[in-house]
Amino acid sequence: MTTPNTSAGSIREAADYIRSQTRLKPEIGLILGSGLGILADLIQDAVSIPYEDIPHFPVSTVEGHEGELLIGTIEGRPVVMMKGRFHMYEGYGPEVTAFPVRVMKNLGVSGLLVTNAAGGVNTSFKPGDLMLLSDHLNLTGTSPLIGPNDADLGVRFPDMSEAYSRRLRAAAKEAAEGQGFTFREGVYAGLLGPSYETPAEIRMLRTLGADAVGMSTVSETIVARHAGLEVLGISCITNMAAGILDQPLSHAEVMETADLVKEKFLGLVLSIIPKM
Ligand code: HPA
Repeated sequence: MTTPNTSAGSIREAADYIRSQTRLKPEIGLILGSGLGILADLIQDAVSIPYEDIPHFPVSTVEGHEGELLIGTIEGRPVVMMKGRFHMYEGYGPEVTAFPVRVMKNLGVSGLLVTNAAGGVNTSFKPGDLMLLSDHLNLTGTSPLIGPNDADLGVRFPDMSEAYSRRLRAAAKEAAEGQGFTFREGVYAGLLGPSYETPAEIRMLRTLGADAVGMSTVSETIVARHAGLEVLGISCITNMAAGILDQPLSHAEVMETADLVKEKFLGLVLSIIPKM
């Protein structure tokens, strides 16, 4: 695997290429998590660009994660959607996993909706629940902002006291109410993976204040906040985290649960986007 170049020049080249493929100017970015690719069906008049065609873009290597960028409209709002994202467990550095967020910013987006599949650490959660991220714990041991800071991209020490926008969370709750549905809300712990956690690690995470656990999202959110984007995060609780139930975890279970909630998720995103 070659390490993609994530410099400011590469961001511009990737964004210039995308601009050459569409006249739409996306206002909102969306990143789809495991098994949530179905959300791509929401986009109208989509232009699809395979990741391998975009200069400096990494390519995703995981089953259930596709690799295309879609640009089109949802409820009349121009959006850019990543169908398939990059994970540190694939061997990419955090700055690579978050590179597309910088490209989205360059394209002109002001808000980012990140979705993911996550294990439920909070024992009151159930598989199939949808959780609004109120905050996160970056437990990857690193940051996409390590290294010299490019002041054109953001400040050296970005504030993270409202990583997930209060305004967007309120809008999402309102949208959910309109659908007769209530979100869970909680703290997402982002770990490296790719092994699922041990029961001891899950007990530790609960003590630390985590409600859900996954292997994505935190570097994307850090870069989004660095870039001044408003972030809304939604976890699909696909399974109870390790040690809660007397059964092993599997990627198949994650994909199955994500598939079961797709209709609910589609309806929600459709009503959230106009409020973003
Ligand atoms: N742990 C970590 N990542 C996950 C899980 C989990 O239980 N479920 C879905 N993604």
